[in-house]
Parts: sequence; C-alpha cells; structure tokens
Amino acid sequence: MNAAVRAVVRTAIYNDLEVLGVRHGYQGIIEGDFVDMDRHSVSNIIQRGGTILKSARSKEFRTEEGRRKAAEHLKKHNVDALVAIGGDGTFQGATILNEEHGIAVIGIPGTIDNDLYGTDETIGYDTALNTALDAIDKIRDTADAHERLFLVEVMGRDAGFIALETGIAGGAEMILLPETLNQVKDIKVNLNEVLSAHRRSTLVVVAEGDETGGALNLAEKLKEDFERYEMRVCILGHIQRGGSPTARDRVLSSRLGSAAVTALMEGHSNVMVGLINGEVKLTPLKNTWSRKKSIKYELLELAKILS
Ligand code: F6P
Repeated sequence: MNAAVRAVVRTAIYNDLEVLGVRHGYQGIIEGDFVDMDRHSVSNIIQRGGTILKSARSKEFRTEEGRRKAAEHLKKHNVDALVAIGGDGTFQGATILNEEHGIAVIGIPGTIDNDLYGTDETIGYDTALNTALDAIDKIRDTADAHERLFLVEVMGRDAGFIALETGIAGGAEMILLPETLNQVKDIKVNLNEVLSAHRRSTLVVVAEGDETGGALNLAEKLKEDFERYEMRVCILGHIQRGGSPTARDRVLSSRLGSAAVTALMEGHSNVMVGLINGEVKLTPLKNTWSRKKSIKYELLELAKILS
C-alpha cells in the first residue's frame, strides 16, 4: 500500500495537483484526519509493509450520517476526488459515497486475498504468497524430519487464491478452499490414499474460510483416524499481511497508483484501476464488489496431478 500511496502522491505532484492524505481510512475522513502530502512525505516508504497512512474498519461510514460527515469534510477541504485503496468493502463504501454526494472516486485494488473482480492481481497478494510459502517450506522440513502430517492454515476468509497458489508452490499433498465443497469423509479417503503412498511428509494447505472450519476444526475431525501420523496444525495468520513487499508488488502498486491519478485527470470516476493481461484497465467500481473473480480450477487439477 505504501508503494501505491507513493505513486499517487508523486504522479499527482508531477502533474501540479495537490494531495491530502487521509489517516485511518474512512474513519479518518469522518473525523477530518487529513495530512498534507508532498513528495518527501512518501520518501523511503516503497519497501515498507503496512501503510504510513494507517488503516481502520469504520462502522460509522456504513451509516448515512457517517458518510454525510465524511462528504462535508471532503468538500470543506476542496477535495475533487478520492483515491481509495482496499478491497470489496472499501469499494462498496466508495460507490455509495459517490452516489450520495457526487464525490469523484477511484479504487486501487489492495487486499492480500486477491479476490477482486477487475484485476488479475491485487496489491499485497504476491507478498503474502511469498511469506506464506517461506513458512510452508520451513514447516515441510519438520514434517519431513518427523514424518508428520501437517495442516497449514493460510488466510482467505472468502477466497482460496492464497491457499491454491501456496499449495502448488509448496508442493502440498492436498489443498482445501472455500470455492470447493470438501466433505470430511472424502478428505479422509484422499488423505489415506496420500499416506498409503509411503510419503515422508504430508502437508495439507487449508484456507481459513474453507467450509471444514479451518485447520484447527479439521484437525479435530481427523484426529481419531490419523492419530498415528502425529498430526500438527500451524495457522500462519497475520504474518501474511506484513513485511517488505516483493518487487512484483512494488511494481504493481506503482503502476496502479500512477494510473489512478491519470484516470482521474482524464475525467474517469467510479472505476477501479486493475491489471488485466499485463495492461492497466478500468472496471466500473460496482462490478468489483458485485461480481466474483473465480479461482482457476485448472490449477486445482494441476495440484492434484503433481502431488
Ligand atoms: O480480508 C483480508 C483478510 O486478510 C482475510 O483473509 C482475513 O480473514 C482478514 O483479512 C483478517 O482480518 P482482521 O485482521 O480484521 O482479522
């Protein structure tokens, strides 16, 4: 996100526009928590995780009154357009703000879950993937040394992109996603097949939003049948949301942040900038949260073949 903030600020200044940063997301707009941004305010942040502007979940912004207060602050500060970085919730909020108060809005896709329609990849996804993969590789060493069965839970409340790609990259024996229905009895059958192939280690990657209830719940359901494999659970959690961004994420953020400002200058509003087949494209903001981006089911098939 910092790389995107930097790109927005520097592109705007390059084009003689003024930029105000909002601290703490929508809650910050409601409270008028603005900060002047110049080119130095975004120096030395491209390599930092998190966001210098801070983030927050705002219940108040979900109310008409909250959005009215936000619009008042934006108008008082002569804000012509709002650039929102976030996921589907952020963009729903931006769409409503635009509808109710006519403020020009543009979205930049930022979520580690990668579950946004209108872009092949979201900001943070590649970094999260690599962080999770690094952990999975390390877990594999223990799994291998002790010949254990590991259930590794990765983030993804509603989407299995992280699980699918870390599963493939980490050579997982099984991948469980919210997009696929997995009955516990079928998981047991598959696991037995995997284990009877005399593997030295077995690793199941489970998305947190999988309908089995995540790795801990699944372990509970499996424990009687698989006791002999010294099953262990590892929940990777919020480490996936931090750390220095990968080169790919920094380039993506730089491209999309800059493209957002360019699109606004060209008169676009109520759209999200995304990367589709390597090109920057605009998608109506509403589509980004009302439509669903599908995982590539052929990758799931690939994972099965390769395991
Ligand atoms: O929405 C992105 C996400 O990373 C989900 O995958 C995860 O469930 C959630 O955020 C965690 O959010 P919080 O930090 O608010 O618990």
